[in-house]
Amino acid sequence: MSSRVERKDGYVNVSGLNLYYEDFVPDHIEGTIICLHGGPGASHDYLLPLSDLSNFGFRIVLYDQFGCGKSDEQKDTSKFTFDYAVEEVEGVRKQLCPEGKVFLMGSSYGGALALAYSLKYQSALLGMIVSGGLASSRLTIKEMNRLIDDLPEWASSAIRKYDATGDYTHPDYLKATEEFYSRHLIRMNPVPREVRLSLEYAEKRNVYRIMNGPNEFTITGTIRDWDITDQIHKIVIPTLITVGEYDEVTEVVAQEIHKRIKGSIMKVLPNCSHLSMWEDREGYIATLKEFIDSVLSSAK
Ligand code: ALA
Repeated sequence: MSSRVERKDGYVNVSGLNLYYEDFVPDHIEGTIICLHGGPGASHDYLLPLSDLSNFGFRIVLYDQFGCGKSDEQKDTSKFTFDYAVEEVEGVRKQLCPEGKVFLMGSSYGGALALAYSLKYQSALLGMIVSGGLASSRLTIKEMNRLIDDLPEWASSAIRKYDATGDYTHPDYLKATEEFYSRHLIRMNPVPREVRLSLEYAEKRNVYRIMNGPNEFTITGTIRDWDITDQIHKIVIPTLITVGEYDEVTEVVAQEIHKRIKGSIMKVLPNCSHLSMWEDREGYIATLKEFIDSVLSSAK
């Protein structure tokens, strides 16, 4: 256990944009983990439980990606791509963690981004953690449709009805969206403040709408056809894949990653959905700690 953790925050300039970050620095650093939030278009706030790992000597770096949270707008929407986001991760890593290899953690789209980053820069990594992540939007969409079919009739029919007309703000549709979220996004009532904040950022800035779509289960944005399933076998670093039992990015999606990354570990978190870092904070942190400890001890 580390005796003291210093919290720093500030802005790092990457590709001309000021990106907001929070950095939890223990007095004796055993390893560093850079965390990538999802959305695409949410913010780092909902990942703050990861900072619990700093109590065990791990430095935790969280940041708001371009156009997200407190970070600058990327005005050139042609840059709303995985290629650009991968270089942004590399820019953050080089500036904030220039020495030694780090771990990369990504949640949801952040997990997709971690996979894409690894395909280019895995030599910079000690290991990777993909939580509720995906290698294929197509498969994720297919699975989400299955979850919609399994909702109570009133909710699935409202989603189908208003989806067909694009009326994503109809009260019945919004009620059905809440139903889906309460089962597959976060199974907590009330929803923690930090999660609400990230959802609010997604709503008020434009990255989520352009890259993802109107809500979690309607991925109609620019990532709609993204699929790197046939490439991820090239990833050779130690990899942990976590997925909630009721995750909106389902176990089927996680399995497809797990079976292609040799030696990867997959852990299904019982009674959790997409945001298991909140739903079972202790269990989630313990799972990550065990993985990181084992990677570090075998690297010694
Ligand atoms: N919308 C999903 C996420 O949370 C993919 O990143």
